[in-house]
Amino acid sequence: RSPRLERYRQAHDLAAKAFNHILMNTDAGVQALHYLLSRGISRTTMATFQLGYAPPSGRAMMSFLQQKGFSAEELIACGLAVDLGGELVDRFRGRVIIPIADRRGQVVAFGARALDDDAKPKYLNSPEYELFHKGRMLFNVHRARKAIRRERRALLLEGYMDVLAVAQAGIECAVATLGTSLTEEQAQLLKADCDKVVIAYDGDEAGRKATVRAIEVLEQAGVTPVVLRLPDGMDPDEYIRAHGARAFERMLSESTWTAVQFLIEDMRARAEWVSPAGRTEFLRQVLRLLAERASPVEQEYQLRNLSQEFNLSVETLKEEMRGFAKPLR
Ligand code: GTP
Ligand code: MN
Ligand code: MN
Ligand code: MN
Ligand code: MN
Repeated sequence: RSPRLERYRQAHDLAAKAFNHILMNTDAGVQALHYLLSRGISRTTMATFQLGYAPPSGRAMMSFLQQKGFSAEELIACGLAVDLGGELVDRFRGRVIIPIADRRGQVVAFGARALDDDAKPKYLNSPEYELFHKGRMLFNVHRARKAIRRERRALLLEGYMDVLAVAQAGIECAVATLGTSLTEEQAQLLKADCDKVVIAYDGDEAGRKATVRAIEVLEQAGVTPVVLRLPDGMDPDEYIRAHGARAFERMLSESTWTAVQFLIEDMRARAEWVSPAGRTEFLRQVLRLLAERASPVEQEYQLRNLSQEFNLSVETLKEEMRGFAKPLR
């Protein structure tokens, strides 16, 4: 292990502890503490996730770390300080701090949320550097891993706050991407510990599109995706606060969809139902999907549904479906 990288880890470890102390034990952190409490995050969850607060002042963290022997160059290289028009300042100012750890649990980066919903950007993350590549990491993976292995499944979410809310609800196997779409590397990371991933992205248009992409990436990696669709544009955090942890758990055990079911419903929502051509096109899209992606059982099941819906025989549908050859993988 390189001594230089080890120093970046040490700097992040010290910073995480200091940010956490400021949040939980000082007057400077009171506003942020109330912000988190008002979002339903308990002190226990704050401690578990080592949440913190970076005061707005501008140089406090830099000075602290420089006193501990870190050079300005080191702090810039690992993203803790930035050059603001010739002046060095803390990257994170006036934000709630969410430590991001690698698989061994060592903090290597931070996510930082503004206290004001209208602030731009809402979240500010550490820049990518040697120890932090967004596409290779998943938030919370070091804490969730044991549960993921035990349950042979992972819960894949969009946001930090979703992971916090779900963890606080007692579900330990949740991870999140860091504001980008799921990569092959992240899918491989999950595949190492489980065979099933429940995607529970935000119940909005962006979340729906991201779900379609995540399904592809997971299937390519050889993991079975399952989808939990949240209602009314809600994300898991909002759903849990509106309906409670039990309701979320119930959805998780009773209302998940297979990838094929989700994709059919997605096609249905987009189909042009008014024209006969549009309806036929929908049918053909579904048959192609079934030919290419569905297991024999799922094919049979869906063909029976379609047969009733379109008043066509299962045999005819099957014949048409066979016209779409299964692609070689
Ligand atoms: P809250 O509003 O705090 O509940 O956050 P959210 O997670 O619900 O936000 P949203 O659904 O908009 O975004 C999901 C994830 O995308 C976040 O957790 C971040 O990782 C990332 N993200 C959102 N907004 C920004 C942004 O302004 N900048 C960056 N870099 N990432 C963002
Ligand atoms: Mn990278
Ligand atoms: Mn969103
Ligand atoms: Mn949210
Ligand atoms: Mn969200």
